[in-house]
This record gives sequence, structure tokens and C-alpha cells, in this order.
Amino acid sequence: MKVLVIGAGNMGLTYAQGMSKSRLLKKKNIMVLDNSEKKLEELNNIAHFDAFKELKDCVPEADIIFLAVKPYHAEALLKTIKPLVNTQQVLVSIMAGVSISAIKEYTGLEKIVRAMPNLPAQIGKGLTSYVSSEEVSNIEMLTIESLLNTTGKSIQVSTEKFIDASTGISGSGPAYVFYFMQSMMEAALKMGFSKKDSTVLVSQTFTGAVELFNQSNLSPNSWMEKVASKGGTTRAALDSMKDNKVNELIKDAAFAAFSRAVELGKEY
Ligand SMILES: NC(=O)c1ccc[n+]([C@@H]2O[C@H](COP(=O)([O-])OP(=O)(O)OC[C@H]3O[C@@H](n4cnc5c(N)ncnc54)[C@H](OP(=O)(O)O)[C@@H]3O)[C@@H](O)[C@H]2O)c1
Repeated sequence: MKVLVIGAGNMGLTYAQGMSKSRLLKKKNIMVLDNSEKKLEELNNIAHFDAFKELKDCVPEADIIFLAVKPYHAEALLKTIKPLVNTQQVLVSIMAGVSISAIKEYTGLEKIVRAMPNLPAQIGKGLTSYVSSEEVSNIEMLTIESLLNTTGKSIQVSTEKFIDASTGISGSGPAYVFYFMQSMMEAALKMGFSKKDSTVLVSQTFTGAVELFNQSNLSPNSWMEKVASKGGTTRAALDSMKDNKVNELIKDAAFAAFSRAVELGKEY
């Protein structure tokens, strides 16, 4: 089996590197194409990739094609590969907002998987949600799933609406966590801690809380009840958040990202 990754940017390289560790792919079965000479030079120095500049030299060879260019490059690129593809190939797009029907129309391909990764994929801790056209077989789906899982975990969703919805949760979600971390660091600085200590205080608190959650069967609500005793310090903070409707504001933010994903999808 041969996999081609088109677009060796942040996400394309992340997947190519993740997949290079997959037992499904033997050495040199990962082809990577990019249009920048500088990128190609870098790719040529990575032993487990075959680097390409010309679509005609690699597209016909691939069983699975990963598309990882910016959405505004999608239409031109997809139309260019149309004469080079065959209907047995599976195309996996990680481009935000580009629908399965648009990809089918531009390429003539039928087996399409649309996936939405997130930033922690870069360190193997990503979450990719994905949906496929009905022409993709169960066996092909299993292969794709195991390739996606080389960058973390994945969930299969039933419709493209859930790809937009997961953009509002996992796709944009790392930035919500950074927002919360930034706010806590600013509070620590205001209390008089140094920048270095504020960073350690906050980062270890997040790591510890997430690990506690992952190693238990308790919901976040149960954990909050466990740590917040009546009249105590944690209760004072949680009451302040409740009074300020922080919970509602966070939900609004996630829905704002969801709506924006739907809007952007209409542009392609
Ligand atoms: N980054 C994320 O966290 C994230 C999360 C979810 C989804 N995504 C999706 O992932 C996709 C890639 O994002 P990215 O951040 O990895 O972008 P990126 O870093 O800009 O990478 C895209 C790469 O593709 C190259 N390219 C552009 N047109 C090409 C063509 N016609 N043929 C070959 N290569 C071409 C670009 O070269 P030039 O720089 O020369 O144009 C660049 O090296 C996007 O569609 C985005 O929506 C990204």
C-alpha cells in the first residue's frame, strides 16, 4: 500500500511522520509532495519519505491520497489531479470546510474521507474526527482509521455536520485551554509570583487535573464536588464563575466556532 501526502506543511508533515511509524506501511511507501523547493530539499533529507514536486509522478502510484493544503488552494489542486486519479483510490482531506461533494465534483473520485484534526497531533496527542462517503469500504475505513490514529485518537462521525461541530470542540479547543491557562497565569502574576513560577503553577495544575480525570471514571462535575467543600476556597472560585456565567460563555464560544466552520464551508 502506498500513501501520498500532498502539502508538507504543519499538518501534512505531522501525518506523514505519524504514518511513517505505522506497521501498515513499509519503508519508502510514503510519498510527500510540496510545491516549494525549500520544503523538497528538507523532505529529501528525511530517509523514510519519497519527495515529489510533480503530481503526475506520484498521484497515479498512490492507494491513499492525503490532502493537506490550505482550503483556498483546494479547487485548483483538485481539478489538476482529476486526470491523474482512478476511482479505486481513497482521498483523505484534512482541509477545513471543503465538503465531500465538492471534492467528488472536482476530482471525479468517489471514495472520500473528510477529517478534522487538531494541533496536539504534532506530538501524537491529537484528536481527529472523520466521516466518509458511502463508497469507502469497511476495510478501507479500518486502514484509514489506523493511519489517522498514528497522530493520536480518532472518532468516526455520521455526517459532515459533526465535522463542523467537532471544529468547535476539539479543532479550536486547544486555544480555549490556552485562554484559560493565560488567565490563570495573569492571576498568578498579579498575586506576585514570578513569570517562571506562574508558568509552572499553571502548567502542572492543568497536566495534573487532566491526568486525574483520565485515570478515573468521574465526570468533571463530580471532581468539582469532590474538591470544593462548603465555605472553602475552591467553592469561592466556583461560585464566582457561576455568578459570572462562565459556563454559558464557554458554551457560547464553542458554538461561535461551530457556526464559523459552517459559514466557511459555504465558501468552498
Ligand atoms: N494547522 C492546524 O492545526 C489544522 C487543524 C485542522 C485542520 N487543518 C487543515 O490542514 C490543512 C493544512 O494546514 P497547515 O496548517 O498544515 O497548512 P500549511 O502549513 O500552509 O501547509 C500547506 C502546505 O501545502 C503547500 N501547498 C500549497 N498548495 C500546494 C499545491 N498545489 N501542491 C502542493 N503543495 C501545496 C504549501 O506550500 P506554500 O506554503 O508554498 O503555499 C504548504 O507547504 C488546511 O486545509 C487546514 O484547514 C489544520
